[in-house]
Amino acid sequence: MKNTILLLLCLMVASQSIAQNPSIISTVNRGEANFNPLLEPFYHGVASGDPLSDAVIIWTRITLDDISGNVDVNWKICTDTELNNIVQAGVFSTNEDRDYTVKIDVQGLDPNTTYYYGFSYDGMSSMTGRTRTAPVGDMERLRFGVVTCSNFGQGYFSAYSRLADRNDLHAVIHMGDYYYEYGTSTNAIPGREDLCPTNEILTLSDYRIRHGFYKLDFDLRRIHQQHPMIITWDDHEVANNAWLDGAENHNAGEGDYQERKSAAIQAYMEWLPIREQENDNQRVYRKFSYSDLADIIMLDTRHEGRDEQQALEDSIIWTVEDRTILGQEQYEWFLNELETSTAQWKVVGSQVLFTPVSTLGALDNMDAWDGYPAERNRVVNFIDSMEIDNIVVITGDIHIALAGDVALDPFEEYDPITGSGYDPENGDGACAVEMITPSISSNNLDDTDVDLPIPISAVPAFALSINPHGKFLNVVDHGYFILDLDNERAQGDWYWLDSKLTPNSGEYQEHTWYTLDGENFLRIDSIAATDIVPAPDPAPGEPTVSIEELKENSGFTILSAFPNPTKDIHLLNYALEKTQQVKIDLLDSSGKFIKTLKEEKQVSGVYTLQMNVEKLPAANYILQIYIGNQLKSYKVSKL
Ligand SMILES: [Fe+2]
Repeated sequence: MKNTILLLLCLMVASQSIAQNPSIISTVNRGEANFNPLLEPFYHGVASGDPLSDAVIIWTRITLDDISGNVDVNWKICTDTELNNIVQAGVFSTNEDRDYTVKIDVQGLDPNTTYYYGFSYDGMSSMTGRTRTAPVGDMERLRFGVVTCSNFGQGYFSAYSRLADRNDLHAVIHMGDYYYEYGTSTNAIPGREDLCPTNEILTLSDYRIRHGFYKLDFDLRRIHQQHPMIITWDDHEVANNAWLDGAENHNAGEGDYQERKSAAIQAYMEWLPIREQENDNQRVYRKFSYSDLADIIMLDTRHEGRDEQQALEDSIIWTVEDRTILGQEQYEWFLNELETSTAQWKVVGSQVLFTPVSTLGALDNMDAWDGYPAERNRVVNFIDSMEIDNIVVITGDIHIALAGDVALDPFEEYDPITGSGYDPENGDGACAVEMITPSISSNNLDDTDVDLPIPISAVPAFALSINPHGKFLNVVDHGYFILDLDNERAQGDWYWLDSKLTPNSGEYQEHTWYTLDGENFLRIDSIAATDIVPAPDPAPGEPTVSIEELKENSGFTILSAFPNPTKDIHLLNYALEKTQQVKIDLLDSSGKFIKTLKEEKQVSGVYTLQMNVEKLPAANYILQIYIGNQLKSYKVSKL
């Protein structure tokens, strides 16, 4: 009988480069494998997020050989790094319906307090996480790391580790593009060719595997371990240049867009420490109160209500009055939050660039607020007319770093009689400021083949010459910025990686801009904000394994296998700790051999095996995996 199973894809592997620098080896098991077998069964680390003054989300994922049924995971939250002084503890039951993720909204906590937390199962413990609740009342100072755009194949996530090294942050704010939906790229940098699954992600299984793959990254595990994250999604969490009902990177051949979007949202809510809204798991726009000093207003300019992007040439369409990037409900919510906020600083998280930017004399970023000018004007006019001061817009998405003032028309000379226009000398006409964070690793202008009419080194000076409200522009480097707030000023300090091409890169600080209370005008400074003391202790680092030890290890771990039951495509996701012969057999339910699906030598890495079982008769089957002298098997039901 001709077997109809088709092995479509298989995976790849990491031609992982072995770190040459001894200091790299001594701190982490980097370069050889992001998968750390010593973290069993919590390989994906721990995370926390969405801090309130009395609550915070804590998260992990449990990976067991038995890939079905309920699993009870113990959790505890404590005041010490050794996890002895327990404040609260409990049990969370998880199962395959939520991809064995564990997410608890721990309540009844004290404000502005550092906690340490961990999970355990059957005598095995997770790494310890550190988190922090939001403060209330008077607060002298707040500090946040702001990040965006981490593409695995395009660079190491060293910037995440440099933030994880810090003990002075209240939280990390992630502006989205946490992962990318694309399939394997031939342009991946050396050591980062791995990707699971290898195809562009479309289904719930795909999105789950991509989340899991990213969370095996050492630096991403570290930042989640050390800081609570306030995260929002941008387009790539579903597909490039997404809007309410579609995306540039989605075509009819890829199925129904709403189904794809629902799958992406489900996996997002499973795999990230974000608080889900009652009756609306798509809603991620929300506010965080950080004492009387700041409100953080997180918008969803992507998936909530955005009208489709239009081409620059179609100005009749994109300039119409009723076009929206927020959707009516969110728009009203946003204005109400701005109007009613009593906090000194209103930090507005907008994935995409808010202020108008001229490039060659034309406004051409139709994917940003520039493509929705009528709605932006309504927001700016509202801020102006209500005389709301101290708005700091923070932005990601565009793989550049920029700081600037926000004015209704920054290209017109300021008119003191009408109050229109903008004066770059003193900020007259400006009503807010904007700070854009560079990408963690995603390609900048200099990493792409874009043909520029001028040398790249001349781009910042040229761009600033035609954008009088711009203060500085960097189009080539990667990193993050620190938002530091006190009663006198809101300040951005930009930090840059030495290189995104090597693991564990160092960093340097350059560019500091601040606005004084009530000024809405960015001024330059030469010194970054000073340390905050006392700083809480870091959570202990994860157990490390040397490269030599890894090579002695012969294990393999099934990370996930779904969907099960399966109608057409079944995905087996596993990690291999050293180069070994891999053999995967398909058996019938009685254990009788049907076919060998795969037999080959694979080097250490993480793999997704995609099997098309569409033409297989409906029945139960067994997948048997032999690696080295180990054997693991599980049942698959074909519908
Ligand atoms: Fe991006």
